[in-house]
Amino acid sequence: MFKKLHETKVMRDPIHGYIHVEYEVIWNCINAKWFQRLRRIRQLGGAYMVYHTADHTRFAHSLGVYEIVRRMVNVVPDIKNALNEKEKLTVMLAGLLHDIGHGPYSHTFELLAHSSHEEYTCRIIEEDPEIRGILEKCEKGLAKDVADVIRHKSKNSILPQLVSSQLDADRMDYLLRDAYFTGTKYGEFDLERILRTLRVSDNRIVVKESGVYAVENYIMARYHMYWQVYYHPVERSYEAILKKCFMRLRDLYKEGKTPKTVPEFHDLIVGKKLSLNDYFVLDEYTCSYGFYLLTKAKDPIIKDLATRILNRQLFDYEENTPSSYRRIRSLLKKHGFDPTYYCAKDEVVQRPYVPYRKEKGNGIWVRVHGGKIEELSKASAIVHSLVNGQVLKDDRIYYPKEILEKK
Ligand code: NI
Repeated sequence: MFKKLHETKVMRDPIHGYIHVEYEVIWNCINAKWFQRLRRIRQLGGAYMVYHTADHTRFAHSLGVYEIVRRMVNVVPDIKNALNEKEKLTVMLAGLLHDIGHGPYSHTFELLAHSSHEEYTCRIIEEDPEIRGILEKCEKGLAKDVADVIRHKSKNSILPQLVSSQLDADRMDYLLRDAYFTGTKYGEFDLERILRTLRVSDNRIVVKESGVYAVENYIMARYHMYWQVYYHPVERSYEAILKKCFMRLRDLYKEGKTPKTVPEFHDLIVGKKLSLNDYFVLDEYTCSYGFYLLTKAKDPIIKDLATRILNRQLFDYEENTPSSYRRIRSLLKKHGFDPTYYCAKDEVVQRPYVPYRKEKGNGIWVRVHGGKIEELSKASAIVHSLVNGQVLKDDRIYYPKEILEKK
């Protein structure tokens, strides 16, 4: 038996109604400083530059993932019966802590820091004295067990499937939450129906045939959210400027001319892995102050790029073709912009669903009539055509709009 709170704590949430916390260890993790830090990191990086209310945080998303996992292990009969109390608690903790190592500005920052957030997540769970202490005090070895769910190394293979697969608590929460906070209705789907039709078959989470429509709707929601929100060209413009800003900082550093900014940028500039202490401090508030200091720099390029970030003077864009690329570069030179820092190419490719392949990735499985298990793209005509249709891409070139206005 694991220690429970005197009474269940509840937190209001616009997506799930309430988040329910029964166990003391969950409550202690929520109150730990690394978890509280997630209040200072937006869930969607630069999407709030496009959708003005999209500044919900990783903190809210993490609680939402926890709540979906909690419901999966308490309400879905097959899952409830397949796991013991320790496994249920472990996977709820993994849901809660799965993004604890996320840095600022969504995935852009991972590229700059040459690190993945999963790596930091596991380090924080296993190395941070506070989080590790809370978990080990609850039960010896729990920190490793929770990190193992995130690494997909759990002894019980059901646990990682609940937190991270193609139909998991993480994706289901972020799609619903991001749709809500961007006001994008296409991202909505029927979570209740999906939970109701989940089953366990040979240690695999499957969906009952009657749940296929709800799953199709979820896949379509993913598809629309990618093009409407995650890959929105304006959000990519913001990311392009962030990357160019750090590119300029690196070049200035090599010339021995690093401008004054927050010290936590240093390791990012020199390409060194950040220590846990520096990583902790580098949230979006610190970064904003770092950019503010750069608006006072002597170097005109860094000063301009930082000002663009703070005041949302984003780059314009058009389709990237050899001729547009040549034309943009020559216009940039004509107007005195160095193309190294003022011309960015960005291509995104999206597959809303990747069918099962032996060597990598797990698909979504459906239990069809007669008990046979089929992969989703076989069981659903819509998903079949999505998977076998054209792969959609979006290839853009970004540049400051002044070069067009001054023509
Ligand atoms: Ni997440």
